[in-house]
Formats: sequence, C-alpha cells, structure tokens
Amino acid sequence: MRFDSSIRLFDSARRLMPGGVSSPVRAISPHPFYTARADGPYLWDCDGNRFIDYCLAYGPMILGHRHPAIRDAVADQMDRGWLYGTPSELEVNLAGRISGHYPSMERLRFVSSGTEATMAAIRVARGSSGKDMIIKIEGGFHGAHDSVLAKAGSGATTLGIPDSQGVPADAVRNTLQVPYNDPAALEEVMEQFCGQIACLIMEPVLGNIGPVLPEKGYLQEVRRLTEKNDILLIFDEVITGFRLSLGGAQELFGIKPDLTTLGKIIGGGFPIGVFGGRADLMDRVAPGGAIYQAGTFNGSPASLAAGLATLDVMEKENTLHKLNRMGAEMRSALKEIVEDLGLDYSVVGIASMFKIFFGPEPHDYAQALKCDRAGYLQLFRRMLNSGVFLTPSQYETDFISAAHTQDVIETTLEAFRSCLKS
Ligand SMILES: Cc1ncc(COP(=O)(O)O)c(C=O)c1O
Repeated sequence: MRFDSSIRLFDSARRLMPGGVSSPVRAISPHPFYTARADGPYLWDCDGNRFIDYCLAYGPMILGHRHPAIRDAVADQMDRGWLYGTPSELEVNLAGRISGHYPSMERLRFVSSGTEATMAAIRVARGSSGKDMIIKIEGGFHGAHDSVLAKAGSGATTLGIPDSQGVPADAVRNTLQVPYNDPAALEEVMEQFCGQIACLIMEPVLGNIGPVLPEKGYLQEVRRLTEKNDILLIFDEVITGFRLSLGGAQELFGIKPDLTTLGKIIGGGFPIGVFGGRADLMDRVAPGGAIYQAGTFNGSPASLAAGLATLDVMEKENTLHKLNRMGAEMRSALKEIVEDLGLDYSVVGIASMFKIFFGPEPHDYAQALKCDRAGYLQLFRRMLNSGVFLTPSQYETDFISAAHTQDVIETTLEAFRSCLKS
C-alpha cells in the first residue's frame, strides 16, 4: 500500500496540531492514514486504500458508515435548522425512548460528549450526597476531565501517561482507585473512607483496557457494597450502552445503578453524551436544583435525529441479535486460528466487542499492562497493510457493525491467519 498523501498531510498536521492529531489515540506510528470517505464496513483513505473498519470511530458506528436511515434523518433535520437554543420535540422523544430501555434513568439530560456526561454525573453524586470522594476502577476511562484522569485507560494507558500532567493534585486527591474484579479491595477502601465517598464510577465491562469482563457475581457484589455503604453507583455505559443490549450492561447483568452515562451509539455518529438516573438525584440539577450543568450544544438536533434513527433501525431490525452472533463467531474463529498456530495469545470479548490480547486474558488493569504491546502493534500494522483497520492500541476494543457481512468477516479472518503466522 502507498500512503504518499497521508504522509504529506501528516507532515503539515504535525506543524499545526499537537502530535498532528485531534485526539491522541489517532496518532498511529509512523503516521496515521487520512480518511477521505466511509461507507458500510469500509474506510477509504486519501491515497485510495480501502480498509475494513473494526475501530468504527471507537464505538459509535454500530450500523456501519453512512447508513441511509441516519443520513436521511439528519438531512431532513438540516432542512428544519440545526441549532435552536430552545427545547425541541426531538429531545422529549429521545429521552422517552432512552428511559424506556434504561428504567434506572428516570430523568436524563443531553450533553455533547461522554466526557461531559461523566463529569456531570460525578457532580450530581457529589452535590446530592454532600461528599467529595469518588472511587474509580483502575484502567477505567471516563473521558478527559481532571478527577478521572488517574490510572485511566484508553489513550492514556497506550501512551504511558495514565496520570496526566496539568491535573492539580487536589483534583485527584479525592479519587480513590481499586482494581476491577476485586470486591474485597473495594470493601476495604469503603471501610477506610467510611462516610466520605460520594460514588463509585465504573465501566461495567472495561472497554478501554480490554474488553475485560466482570467475573461471575462481581457486579452484583459491587451493587450490594455500594448500597450497604450509602455510595452512589454510576455505570459509565458510554461504550456498553446500546452495544451489549439495548438496555446496556445494566440490562444484560440485571443491575440497577443510581446514575448512568451514555454516549457514542446514541448519537448515531454525531456528538452526544447523556447523564441520568434516579429522579430524586437528577431533580437537583439546575434549574430545578443547585447542581449546575449547562451547554450551548446540549440536545443538538442533528445528534438527536441521528440517535433516534439509529434506535429505530436497531429496534426494528433486531440488530443486536445479529451482531452478538457475529461477535461470537469472530471470537471463536479467531481463537481457532491462534490455537492452530500455537500462539500464547487470548481472544476476549462480549457481544460485538472483541480483542486479541498478546498474552493471557486479563482480569484487571495490572494484568492488562503485562501484554506484549509491541507485538500487538506489529499485528496492527500488518493487518492495516492487508486492508483491515483494527484499533491501533492493545487496549482499545474492536467493534463489529451491522454492515459487516459474512464475506467481510471471512476476509478479515484470512488476514488474521496470514498476519499472525508471519
Ligand atoms: C467508557 C467511556 N466513558 C467516557 C468516554 C468519553 O467519551 P467522549 O470521547 O465522547 O468524551 C469514553 C470515550 O471513549 C469511554 O470509552
């Protein structure tokens, strides 16, 4: 493959933007490819190369790229304007639909990103409880705001800077960390800081160093311990929402959190975040209460129209049924290849999320860090040169979309076989 135009663009970009990119995970070494267009399961770069896409913009594009129903809904919305600064019927409709799938979200608010959603949810937890401390799970990623940028997954782990410079020590002094899948450690921290902890924020399935799955009974134990210690439980379902099931991980595992954050899929590929939960907590958000949150782009009509169209398609076509089957098939075929070749790698995932780990299956952050990242990077590059775009980091999940056909999956598996072999 030739990447002449991408290399040229990257040369200019490096002089204009930090690392030449708009978000760190996109900084593929030695240079990223520059996407010119996308359709179905494919991306085409500006040099005319075509890639099967398993990154899917890090999760949102569950129906594949340029889905006609979403394009039409957004085009239709454009005809009626794209930013009002007033309430719109769209937000009432989408709020109702979300609440229907997430009964724990009795009230919710639309924001513009997952980062804003988790920031606001933590503020609601602190504001309503009057306590400052929070617990997060090591390796959990909840966006790029101060109080959660400690042992954070995603690009932070990939780049080896899980504790960002520029975050005041005071901002993370109140952030306690516990390992995933370790209820005893959680209980210990709760006892040690008894009466001071507002909430536990967690990805129910760790999607930013994984996927790393909850061991049997772990999430139930988390719910029991948070209730017992009067600590609010925030499920960050920015990745798992509408992916593991329409009602997210909370529906799949049967857990009712106090607060939930959503994003990615529910914007249909347009910027969105949602935070919501128990009415008694959310009613304290301004203007009803004194917990402040506001945004010019909150409830942006294009995002809401795209989200509604996505949900329409997913409900009507039972998209997740097909996707979950394809995910299971992908994982088992990939496992077979790894075993055939006698490699010590593991293949993990759930629903339509999958990942090949260059090491044993991790159950927490510390174990995930032991994987052979350099080895994974070699596989990533070889796959890219074979026309398959996996997520560029060992720690980011690969996703399957409804546009990935059986043929596309077969082609991918052939590429995996030959790249892993070499
Ligand atoms: C679990 C989780 N929470 C929050 C975020 C932040 O969302 P956004 O990138 O939309 O700000 C992400 C982003 O990947 C995420 O994976």
